[in-house]
Amino acid sequence: MDFVALATISELLLALVFLQVGAGSGEAIGFTFNGFRSVNLDLDGIAEITQNGLLRLTNETKQMMGHAFYPNPVRFKNSNGGSVFSFSTTFVFAITSKDQVGGGHGIAFVVAPQRGLPGALPSTYFGLFNGSNNGNATNHVFAVELDTVRSPEFQDIDDNHVGIDINGLVSAISAPAGYYVDGGDGKFENLTLISGQPMQVWVDYDGMEKRIDVTLAPFKAVKPSTPLLSMSLDLSTVVKENMFVGFSSSTGSFLFSRNYILGWSFQMNGQVQGLELSKLPDLPRLGKKPTSKLLTIGVPVMCLFSVSVLISGLVYYVRTKRKYAEVLEDWELDYGPHRFKYKDLYIATRGFRDQELLGTGGFGTVYRGILPTSKFEIAVKRISHNSRQGIREFVAEIVSIGRLRHRNLVTLLGYCRRKGELLLVYDYMPNGSLDKYLFNQPKVTLSWTQRFRVIKGVASGLLYLHEGWDQVVIHRDIKASNVLLDAELNGRLGDFGLARLYDHGTDPQTTHVVGTLGYLAPEHTRTGRATKATDVFAFGAFLLEVATGRRPIEARGTEDLILVDWVYSCWSKGGAILEARDPNLGDEFVAKEVELVLKLGLVCSHAEPEVRPTMRQVVQYLEGDMPIQHLSSSLDIYSSGFRNKHRVGFDDFVMSYPSSMDKDFSTSSTVADSILSGGR
Ligand SMILES: *[C@@H]1O[C@H](CO)[C@@H](O)[C@H](O)[C@H]1NC(C)=O
Ligand SMILES: *[C@@H]1O[C@H](CO)[C@@H](O)[C@H](O)[C@H]1NC(C)=O
Ligand SMILES: *[C@@H]1O[C@H](CO)[C@@H](O)[C@H](O)[C@H]1NC(C)=O
Ligand SMILES: *[C@@H]1O[C@H](CO)[C@@H](O)[C@H](O)[C@H]1NC(C)=O
Repeated sequence: MDFVALATISELLLALVFLQVGAGSGEAIGFTFNGFRSVNLDLDGIAEITQNGLLRLTNETKQMMGHAFYPNPVRFKNSNGGSVFSFSTTFVFAITSKDQVGGGHGIAFVVAPQRGLPGALPSTYFGLFNGSNNGNATNHVFAVELDTVRSPEFQDIDDNHVGIDINGLVSAISAPAGYYVDGGDGKFENLTLISGQPMQVWVDYDGMEKRIDVTLAPFKAVKPSTPLLSMSLDLSTVVKENMFVGFSSSTGSFLFSRNYILGWSFQMNGQVQGLELSKLPDLPRLGKKPTSKLLTIGVPVMCLFSVSVLISGLVYYVRTKRKYAEVLEDWELDYGPHRFKYKDLYIATRGFRDQELLGTGGFGTVYRGILPTSKFEIAVKRISHNSRQGIREFVAEIVSIGRLRHRNLVTLLGYCRRKGELLLVYDYMPNGSLDKYLFNQPKVTLSWTQRFRVIKGVASGLLYLHEGWDQVVIHRDIKASNVLLDAELNGRLGDFGLARLYDHGTDPQTTHVVGTLGYLAPEHTRTGRATKATDVFAFGAFLLEVATGRRPIEARGTEDLILVDWVYSCWSKGGAILEARDPNLGDEFVAKEVELVLKLGLVCSHAEPEVRPTMRQVVQYLEGDMPIQHLSSSLDIYSSGFRNKHRVGFDDFVMSYPSSMDKDFSTSSTVADSILSGGR
């Protein structure tokens, strides 16, 4: 038999195998999809195949995932173990976002032991993992991420990178998106993943050399010979014998985009068949239609030129106008001094650049900025807010709250409104939030003296909110991450009254209980009413956090640690309450003060609101004006209120948890779920 015949026969065989893939043999050798019309993929989440054959993994719905898997398992190694076969794949993708400010979270090519990824979460988890299994070698997941959001918790390098992920979201290797130009002395060209432009990716694994290469290029460009990422990697411990290949994508609460795959080709043990780029489906057109066609027909060049100058001037004008557009209604005119111009905030934060991102928390994303004229440092919180309902009351409140001045409150300087968005402007706090100094093996911890000062400061700030002003202000969301540290490390309470925005029932997915799991008083979840006593409850959780360096609820495998119960058990076994203190404190602490804080934390966390002290009493205890013996006797008398009362209302909570809390959402619901299922 000559070689030509051999080649044709093997090609024929290949084609046969290709056609037979549907039979579930587990021997899929390769496939090529130039578009996905009538292609059988296993879809879940919000993934869809559009009319014209695009695979759309996500749209702009918040907090969603989309998975698309090739329906049959692919054999990656022999049944007797050994090394993983070579494979290669290529696909064309596009990520489009309505406003170019940001979109999330990106697309990952995945090799996983199951179709779909059970237990995975959206947002920063990419639809791949969750808080408890992230990074665990039992996942057996290999992924290449095209990531458009910088998630500091996973050590992302920027908001536009490609990374190789093994079992977790901290990439083994990553690089800013781009490619090396062939013959250009290694010149590197940047690509913007979220540009809306299609781009092509190649992933090649060499089973002999145990090397993985990932290459990115603009659409219709020849594959660059130097890969973007290249690393030695033995996949044999990661990949099992039979695996599924596909894509995962997710959206967050504030960052979302349409993530498309236009075409995909995969090949086991060989060179991947190229895609026929001209056959790929078109992306939906974004924005305005080009106006040039009319003008090009026979119009003199000069005329064309001046018209286009005029048009681009107009476009520029409209764009600028739109870029800085804000919503201003008559009723707001009284608030003049508290109203910021969007343009100023845009310039201050350099266009809300990621480099200025301070954090993403409960209610929105926070950016650092410098006001253009005064050079005053500010923090700008962007809250997406689509409903007009309640906004008027809320702004009135914000403005009146903005008149509050206390050295332990973060000053709210003013606000701005845009379509679907509210921006709040605060004093900038250079040392960030307190939780960073307490949890997850912090790089810098605070000494006891510093902590005690922060506690006393926050207590006096809260007392001011409750009693120091002509109207009672309930904070509603006291926790370590809402306490900010100024330049002298004074604790300052931030975000007050913000939860109220959602109380007005503005977000359809939110019912009335707003706050953070673990800080919510049982009667609050039951009745939905926030009171001074519910703030005291949260303050109790805060005291325990600061003294123990633990969160109110920590996942511990199947046994979740409920901080109050644990501190209480330390206390009840012969008064060994000091054992609950943060080990990071070492020997440098004042036993009497630590004991006071822990006991006060317990009493404030009492299930019955009547037993909790008022903030005035709390301050008296902390200042030593009230003897600690009172606390100890309260603990004795009311001890029944500490046992097993704290889980009351978690059911309600899970039901009503607002989906708008991007980051907190995943962890809290995870914890709540495991409490519910753990049945402790
Ligand atoms: C996104 O897709 C899902 C599923 O097809 C659909 O229910 C939802 O309305 C879409 N959302 C948007 C914003 O288009
Ligand atoms: C995380 O995902 C795993 C599956 O990989 C699942 O078994 C587990 O229950 C999930 N954990 C949580 C807390 O959702
Ligand atoms: C990894 O997951 C396995 C099974 O789910 C579990 O037994 C193990 O404790 C996890 N390891 C870590 C470090 O979390
Ligand atoms: C490419 O991006 C990097 C950072 O992402 C930037 O430092 C560099 O200036 C960019 N290069 C070009 C040519 O735009």
